[in-house]
Amino acid sequence: MRNRVSAAKRRVMLGVVAAVGLLATGCAKQTFPQDALHPQGPYADKIDRLWRIVFVPAAIMFFLVMFLVLFVSFRYRARSDEDAPVQTHGNIKLELTWTIIPFILLLVIGVLTVKTVFDINKIPKGNVLPVTVTGHQWWWEYRYPTLGITTANELHIPTGKKVNVTLTSADVIHSFWPTELAGKVDAIPGRMNHLTLEAVKPGTYDGQCAEYCGLSHANMRLRVVAHSPSDFAAWAANQQKPAAIPTGTSDEAVGAGLFKSKGCSGCHTINGYSAGQVGPNLTHLETRKVFAGAIFPLDEQHLTRWLRNPPAEKPMMPQNGIGMPNLKLSDQEIASLISFLQTLH
Ligand code: CUA
Repeated sequence: MRNRVSAAKRRVMLGVVAAVGLLATGCAKQTFPQDALHPQGPYADKIDRLWRIVFVPAAIMFFLVMFLVLFVSFRYRARSDEDAPVQTHGNIKLELTWTIIPFILLLVIGVLTVKTVFDINKIPKGNVLPVTVTGHQWWWEYRYPTLGITTANELHIPTGKKVNVTLTSADVIHSFWPTELAGKVDAIPGRMNHLTLEAVKPGTYDGQCAEYCGLSHANMRLRVVAHSPSDFAAWAANQQKPAAIPTGTSDEAVGAGLFKSKGCSGCHTINGYSAGQVGPNLTHLETRKVFAGAIFPLDEQHLTRWLRNPPAEKPMMPQNGIGMPNLKLSDQEIASLISFLQTLH
């Protein structure tokens, strides 16, 4: 008997420790780059404010109901077979109370929710930056129609300006979720959805595809890089330049040749050099910090591993035409290709 009690006690203690541990992780700062409870712009703020307003009464309700359930279960439990409770029927006061209070609560939550939904879905007018975001299995494409720029995975924006995002998809349904800057909106093939985001401070904000979209859904991250308006103008001016393709017999020039002869150009656009439409635009690849659905840092080591066997680095289905195939490149070819890619500033 004593052993059973101490085992039960231990289980309770373990549960308490686990719960405290879970709660404590909520206090950690900066270790969760996709923290939706850490809003960094006015649109994320609106959602966060609504969440906080709903969360407090919901938490109070939860603990009140749990307490009452436990209290009533113990206080009024049957102590013997003959121990039947007093039978009552109807109590106008109580019934009115538990109808009116939830009605008022739900009315307040409903009104605030509808107001927020309309608020964040309003198409911004005036001085806004339009961007078309297209989901692909498994990366993001960004087009700036007014600037003539196409890039991938890293969405660059100026601070203090509303970004009017038009969302669509090239294949299946994805969901664009820049966690600290806005809510999530589905990217659906054949449809144009809308989302507005705005960053207050310059910085890097990570996000994630939030709709299951196949094998590498979890590897479909995204990144928003917010610049000061002048830095953004400089970034845009550089993106608008065509690539300077190396010529001659240098390693870079050999890589540029391989880019065409090995078929890379069939999938990837390099403005002024190739026009592939399947994979990310690589014209200014070296200005990005991440690649492959924003899951790898863009450096020589990761590019080398990637070019050696892409589907081994990130699950893809090249046999079905989805994702980059293994081109069976030699180490020398990989080195030359990377030398070329590193010229794409
Ligand atoms: Cu795209 Cu999940």
